[in-house]
Amino acid sequence: MKNVKILWFIIILLLALSGFLVKKFIIGGSNVVASSDGRSAVIMTKDERDFVLKEMRAFLSSVQGVSQAITENDMVKVADLAHKAGMAAEANTPTELLAKIPLAMKKLGFGTRGKFDEIAETAKTSKDPIVARKQLDTLMQNCIACHAIYRLPEPQK
Ligand code: HEC
Repeated sequence: MKNVKILWFIIILLLALSGFLVKKFIIGGSNVVASSDGRSAVIMTKDERDFVLKEMRAFLSSVQGVSQAITENDMVKVADLAHKAGMAAEANTPTELLAKIPLAMKKLGFGTRGKFDEIAETAKTSKDPIVARKQLDTLMQNCIACHAIYRLPEPQK
């Protein structure tokens, strides 16, 4: 009888712990506040914000590079640039930062990485620039969607 109680205690403890971890690392968003311009402000430290904005500038440069390579029908370059901007680039994102990003924003972010990987795949398989161009057009809808919803205010000193 005593053992059963201990087992139940352990089960409830584990459930509570996994619930906490899911909330903290997967759902996130406890650090999101309303912004004066109607968007949601995601509060990060200065270093985290600098990291994300640097990734954003890299995104813009990837979009430009991939677009130009498609125009020049250089599918080897398309594959290379798109692969670098794809999920491979997520390897160096700190876990604590991921935990601060709300789930819907993570979906848009990973979705964008996934779309870069799809472009890389097209460039290696069908090598059709029109298909790759259409995929890039769709990918950019993610940039627009996320910017319409979220902002990253500069931390107050
Ligand atoms: C998951 C959400 C998300 C996606 C997807 C996203 N961005 Fe951003 N981006 C942001 C946020 C949030 C900011 C900060 C905006 C603000 O504070 O007003 C930002 C800022 C930027 C900036 C400004 C960087 C700076 O130094 O201030 C650029 C450039 C940018 N994004 C380009 C892009 C491009 C290009 C894409 C698509 C390939 C993209 N972003 C996709 C969320 C996103």
